[in-house]
Amino acid sequence: MLSSSLTQEQRLIKNLVSEFAEKEIKPVASEIDRNCAFPAEIVGKLFDLGFMGHFVEERYGGSGLDYLSYVVAIEEISRACASTGAIVMAHNSLACVPIIDFGTEEQKKQYLPRMCRGAVGCFALSEPESGSDAAGIKTGAVKKGGVYILNGTKSWVTNGREAEVAVVFAKTDKTKRSGGITAFIIDLDAPGISLGKSESKLGIRGTSTSQIVFENCEVPESRVLGKEGEGFKVAMETLDAGRIGVAAQAVGIAQAVLDSSTRYSREREAFGKKISDFQAIQFILADMATGIEASRLLTYKAALIKDRGEKYTKHSSMAKLYASETAMRVATKGIQVHGGNGYTTDYPVERHFRDAKITEIYEGTSEIQRIVIARQVLSELL
Ligand code: CAA
Repeated sequence: MLSSSLTQEQRLIKNLVSEFAEKEIKPVASEIDRNCAFPAEIVGKLFDLGFMGHFVEERYGGSGLDYLSYVVAIEEISRACASTGAIVMAHNSLACVPIIDFGTEEQKKQYLPRMCRGAVGCFALSEPESGSDAAGIKTGAVKKGGVYILNGTKSWVTNGREAEVAVVFAKTDKTKRSGGITAFIIDLDAPGISLGKSESKLGIRGTSTSQIVFENCEVPESRVLGKEGEGFKVAMETLDAGRIGVAAQAVGIAQAVLDSSTRYSREREAFGKKISDFQAIQFILADMATGIEASRLLTYKAALIKDRGEKYTKHSSMAKLYASETAMRVATKGIQVHGGNGYTTDYPVERHFRDAKITEIYEGTSEIQRIVIARQVLSELL
């Protein structure tokens, strides 16, 4: 099920990304974090390597790869730098995937080649007053002639500052909750769009997380993604897929903590021996490794089910829930293994600890994942 059961192509991708991440991303990861700097050069290279068009069919300029190879790539990138992992995920699974899955031929031809060549994408669903309650969004889209006029503020948009293309959700019928939402593909240089507040964050500090403000922004009818009133389905299906990516990111962060903790415990001495000789440390490493392996298995399983074209909502939420909570637990213990050193910026575990936290929050909090899983479990018994 793990590395041994990856196809030759998936193993190749794992090795390629792992080598790239080790050589090009890891050496600058703490600088990206410290300076809150979007890693433009690395992202440019990821475009060149084809990882920013991971799922896009080759006829639109993409790599046409599957979901399992995606989670393998996201794990390796996030193991080096969770910020870079988040940028790649917001672009691929939150912006490209809904266009691939719900776009018309014309929309795909217009947007996907650009999004494989260098135009960063983002996903604008949440608002200042609605995060977990996605159906409670207030941004309105009123149809007038051949255009929709959008007004409202989107928040927590990963890649918001750099993105050229956004998948945006707005209410076309404010009398309804989920049934009144429509998805749009929007060029962010259009008139009536501005950037709002940029968040100063605990972790994934190399990503931008911004508000996008729409003020009488005219969006042509041809930019409706899917059907009017079916935007909630677009959002939920996109998040189902995106959550597997977050699980992979959490696995990558946790693996980085284990790598670092193992190395440190073999070097650090106390009471006349290496601290790795103490069971107190060994048991921590054993629990970390077990949790990571279980998280990776759940993540691979969700990706495999998706690749087989079966329903994977429950598996995606299970993978995200388990992997993100494992990453947080592993990161907390990782700092403990490093003692006082782990609490300083001299070692990378404090960054991993801060980065791990977001995986329990974005693309649906752990509480939302439990709601999704419970609903699926209960409906299976009917
Ligand atoms: N796939 C397809 N359809 C789905 C679905 C899914 N996974 N989940 C729900 N639906 C459909 C339902 O079948 C229902 O359809 P009908 O009306 O036709 O019956 C409709 O959507 C409404 O569903 P619910 O009644 O279940 O909706 P709800 O209001 O109770 O909400 C929820 C459900 C799971 C809590 C949802 O609101 C949710 O996932 N919330 C979390 C949102 C989230 O993850 N936000 C993060 C945004 S991205 C981000 O973090 C920023 C970033 O850039 C990374």
